[in-house]
Amino acid sequence: MSGLSFPSAPVAGGPADIRTNPFRPDFPLLASDEGLAFLDSAATAQRPACVLEAQRRFYETMNANPLRGLYRLSVEATQAIDDARAHVARFIGAGDPDEVVFTRNTSESLNLVARSLAPTLLGPGDEVAITIMEHHSNLIPWQQVCAATGAKLVYLRPNEDFVITPEEVADKVGPRTKLVSVAHVSNVLGVENPVRAIADAAHAVGALVVVDAAQSVPHVRVDVSELGCDLMAFSAHKLMGPMGVGVLWGRRDVLESMPPFLTGGEMIDSVTETGAVWAPIPQKFEAGTQDAAGIYAFDAGLSYIEGKGRDVLEERERALASYLCARLVDVPHVDVVGPTDPAAHVGAVSFNLGDIHPHDVASLLDMDDVAIRAGHHCAQPLLAWMGIESCCRASVAFYNDAADVDRLADGLGRVWEVFHGNE
Ligand code: ALA
Repeated sequence: MSGLSFPSAPVAGGPADIRTNPFRPDFPLLASDEGLAFLDSAATAQRPACVLEAQRRFYETMNANPLRGLYRLSVEATQAIDDARAHVARFIGAGDPDEVVFTRNTSESLNLVARSLAPTLLGPGDEVAITIMEHHSNLIPWQQVCAATGAKLVYLRPNEDFVITPEEVADKVGPRTKLVSVAHVSNVLGVENPVRAIADAAHAVGALVVVDAAQSVPHVRVDVSELGCDLMAFSAHKLMGPMGVGVLWGRRDVLESMPPFLTGGEMIDSVTETGAVWAPIPQKFEAGTQDAAGIYAFDAGLSYIEGKGRDVLEERERALASYLCARLVDVPHVDVVGPTDPAAHVGAVSFNLGDIHPHDVASLLDMDDVAIRAGHHCAQPLLAWMGIESCCRASVAFYNDAADVDRLADGLGRVWEVFHGNE
């Protein structure tokens, strides 16, 4: 095996040492299924017991509709959301909790942005720039609003090293650009894009900058002011929280200038027979009853991460992604889809195994209790551009260890034998 050097050498036996695993016992699903090598955290993470307990605690001790009642339970439920909002703001370096809007997921956050901004921002001759590596969540909403307004959708494409270069940015972001929306980390290639440089170029021409941080916030410390974006979306379910809770962060002045996306309950200041006055942010964007229990549990998930140490978890995940890439590169007949440099990967590594269909690879690995994702990964334009229809993807979180990765690598050898014998 070659290339098993770590970007930084974790202290042997410490929490970042991937040959040991002090985290797995905290996750009931993993603790109760010792044989499972769960390598699909880019799709959704496992949740620690404290998150599951928090969700239950909400319904058992504080269940009432937030914002609507003047009695103790409703006030507690409202406070739970307020506390979580402030916690999310701290977690992403945002100074103002009102800049944090709770949605259902990253897709809803990005649809909110596209639908709200497009009518006043875009028209014929204008351009929206995204990258070719966007998840459909950050692609279809822009296709839709460009089609509706006559604006043009422009794609930033990476070079042969999977890097979006300053030249490419200068070529695609110009006077016609009204908005740039980019993935911070690609869910297929696992690469981190140069968001700050892209944001600076976009702001220089007066364009707004949106970041899809669904695959970055779970793995690297993200600070919205350092990133230099105007709006940013991510999901709780990849970050220890429950499914059904998403976040849209936006600069106050930007959010205040945007009309609501969904209208209805609790997003208004006043309503008459002929019209309505919107509530201030963030309520303006939070129509209907929120998943208060999910938001409360998400708060507990962020506390879990902070309790373990964000830097330690990041170091461990970098070591795991690096080891994953290095091992895959060495498996005969594996073609990595993306950089072969182990240090270039954040969380995920995609690959194909010779001519074997990715669905067959994933199904056979499942028989060894190794869980990966296979398919187009909701990034069909990227795969088409790269000349493939589908691929396998393995992705790690801090609760994985080197043995999980070894199980994948060994399992791929067996998959090859099923189709090709000992060729
Ligand atoms: N966006 C998630 C993924 O890439 C579902 O798998």
